Order: sequence, then C-alpha cells, then structure tokens
Amino acid sequence: MQSFDLIVVGAGAAGLFCAGIAGQLGQHVLLLDHASKLAEKIRISGGGRCNFTNREAGPANFLSENPNFCRSALARYSAQDFIGLVRKHGIAFHEKHKGQLFCDDSSEQIIQMLLRECEAGGVQRWQPCTVADVRPLAGGGFELDSSAGSLRTTRLVIATGGLSIPKIGASDWGLRLAQRLGHSIVEPRPALVPLTFAPADWAPFAELAGLSLPVVVSTGAGKQRTRFHEDLLFTHRGLSGPAILQISSFWHEGQALSLDLAPEQQLAPALLNAKNGSKRQLGNELAELLPSRLAQAWLARLALPGNRPMADCKDKDLQRLAEQLQAWQLTPDGSEGWRKAEVMRGGVDTRELSSQSLESKKVPGLHFIGEVVDVTGWLGGYNFQWAWASAAACARAVASQTEALAIS
Ligand code: FDA
Repeated sequence: MQSFDLIVVGAGAAGLFCAGIAGQLGQHVLLLDHASKLAEKIRISGGGRCNFTNREAGPANFLSENPNFCRSALARYSAQDFIGLVRKHGIAFHEKHKGQLFCDDSSEQIIQMLLRECEAGGVQRWQPCTVADVRPLAGGGFELDSSAGSLRTTRLVIATGGLSIPKIGASDWGLRLAQRLGHSIVEPRPALVPLTFAPADWAPFAELAGLSLPVVVSTGAGKQRTRFHEDLLFTHRGLSGPAILQISSFWHEGQALSLDLAPEQQLAPALLNAKNGSKRQLGNELAELLPSRLAQAWLARLALPGNRPMADCKDKDLQRLAEQLQAWQLTPDGSEGWRKAEVMRGGVDTRELSSQSLESKKVPGLHFIGEVVDVTGWLGGYNFQWAWASAAACARAVASQTEALAIS
C-alpha cells in the first residue's frame, strides 16, 4: 500500500495550490482528481482569461453563515501575495473593472503556473483517479480505496469544489463525505447565476434579449438589504449580467428585486421639466434618457403613446413611468441552476472547521478547502482568492504541525 503525508482530493484551484505549497514545505503529497482534464474551471474562468484575484478582496466580499470565518486565511494569504506569485512566473495581467485582475493572454497560464509549483514540491498527480471510500484509522490517518489501489495518508484534504457545471467534473462527493464523517452542511444553492421568470410574466420583455445597460439592483429588507451598481443583461428567459449574478447570491425564492434602470438620472424631474420646454414627443424624449428599445418597451407596457407631444402628457403618467423605470419591482421564479451558476453558495459548515488550518474539529487530520466550504465570494476574482487563501492556510498548517511533531 502506498503511503503519503498528505493526499489532496480535487486538482482544481484550491487543490493544486495546496499540494504545491505543502510539497515545497517538505510534505510527501499525492494530488488526485476524478476528471481526466486538469482544472477545467480555471480554464473556462473569466471568459478564458481567468479573473484570478481582486486587488480589494476582503472579508466583506464573501457570504457565509459564519461571516468572520474567512478573515484569518484571507489576512494570511492576500491578493498581493498571489499577484506576487503571478509576477514571479512572468504572467502579464491587467485590471479590468473594480480591482478585477485578468491574464492578458489565457487562463492556461495560471494552470501551468500551479503545475510548476506542484513540480517544485515533488507532488505526484494521478488523474483520472476516483476514491470509493475513506476510512479514518483508529491511531490517526486515513485509508482510501481508490481506482489506483489502496492508499494511506496522515492527512487528507478535500478540495472537490462546488456543484456548478456538473458536465466538467463537479460532484457532491466532498459534501457527502463530510456528512458521513459527522459534519453539518449549509444547504448548497446555485449562486452567481442568471435569474429566470415565469414565461407569461416575461413575454413583454423577451424582445429586449441582448440589451445591456448599467443599473442598480437591490433585494432584501432592512439591514439585510443588498445593492449592486453593475451592468444588467436582458435574456430570452430573464435577467443576467454582473448586476444579476451578484444579487443572485443574496436572493431567496419568492423575494422581489428592485431595479433602477436609469441610476444616473432623476427621471421624474427630467420628464416633468421637459413637459414645459420640450417640443419632442414622449417616445423621443424618453429615448434621450434611456436606450431606445427600453424606452419603447416601457411605453408599450404602460400603454402610453410614444407619439404624444410632451406638452400633452399628464404629470401622473410621467411620474408613473419614472417610478416604473427607477423602482421596477419584479420577482424571479427561479434561476438557471447548476448548469449556469458560477459558484455554489453553502457547503461544509465552517463552525466545525478551524479558521487557521481549515481542519475538521470532528475528525483530526481532515481538512476542507476552496468552494466545498461554506464561503462564497462575490463576482470579480474573489472566489479564486478564497481558493488560494484557504489552500495556503491549510498547507502551511499541515507542514508546521508535521515539523512540530518531528521536533517533539
Ligand atoms: P474547482 O472546481 O476548481 O476544483 C474541484 C476539483 O475537484 C475539480 O478538478 C473536480 O474535477 C474535482 N472533483 C470533484 N469531485 C471529485 C471526486 N469525487 N473525486 C476526485 N476529484 C473530484 N472565480 C473567480 O474568482 N474568477 C473567475 O473569473 C471565475 N470564473 C468562473 C467561470 C465559470 C464559468 C465558473 C463555473 C466558475 C468561475 N469562477 C471564477 C469560480 C471558480 O472557478 C471556483 O470558485 C474555483 O475554481 C473553486 O476552486 P476549488 O478548487 O474549490 O474547486
């Protein structure tokens, strides 16, 4: 039977990074993944250019039932640390929007960088390799039944990611294992996902598919109210674009969204003002303030004739129009689901993990890192930063505990 100091299950962002650091810190590491292709989510991320971190990443950009859990790992391995590594490997990058950093060339460069880090640490990588069973051993350590035979390891890291995009290797294996070993799971839900509407409700807007514009979207009440000022995209089945992906992580079934479709404008005063001076018709006036397809669709929705001269418009109609555009209330009937979600919200409950080492408080030697853990980032490079930070915290803790044992 082959034995290792550390076996990492899942060779995605967190698993590759953890294995590389642990290997370089002297651990004898095996990294295995059931998929034959390596790190597919990194490959397709950021439109093929991998938004690998966010300069501003901090605890406020993450959702969790236990919001302070991510603080320690994020503080000890920051976006600046990862940027330093990317620079060391000579990968050119640029900032796109709000601190989001992308490769100039291709996400493949990040995968190659992680592989070189694994090579530097002498990491063995077996792929495809599946694990049928994991048994914690009475004296410590674990035995694994894998498709490559029985394996033994002192420590086991689960880095099997979230449930989104099953066709490229996502599985619930890590969550099931956690549950079987006594861990609680915060209910997994698709996040960073387009939202959909009942076909009959959406019919009047379906013709706007492809239209994109900056908006403010908000949901929730009181202290729970969350808002984002980002771009919105109309689709055939509902809404997408960064504004909707962001708010989807905060949205719950049955909850309404409020949309301001003209956040840079004060539509009511602008229209009332135009009534007194403008010689334009309502449709033309509105098209000065908004994309004309949107203007036409809203006039049709409210049964207001676009060819009515501004001077003949009633104040109450103009006010209603402005309100409908700046405080549009709508309730999604669902989301595009795991097929389209960028990440999973929920996962292994962090109240049962150490925030320093990501080690289980229930099963010594077992660690969970990356997206399988109930820490979910906003859109914009935050999810990779959590993968890097949680992986680094885990790898360093594993290595320092081994060192401490060797000294004692
Ligand atoms: P990850 O999913 O990377 O890796 C998990 C690995 O475990 C996979 O290789 C899988 O095959 C393996 N695995 C699963 N089950 C297994 C089993 N039973 N046995 C063995 N192996 C198993 N984030 C960001 O910050 N910037 C971005 O630009 C993007 N863009 C983006 C685009 C799209 C389309 C998606 C779907 C996601 C993103 N993300 C993102 C999110 C980001 O990809 C994600 O949060 C990280 O990859 C999570 O890293 P993990 O290592 O936890 O999981």
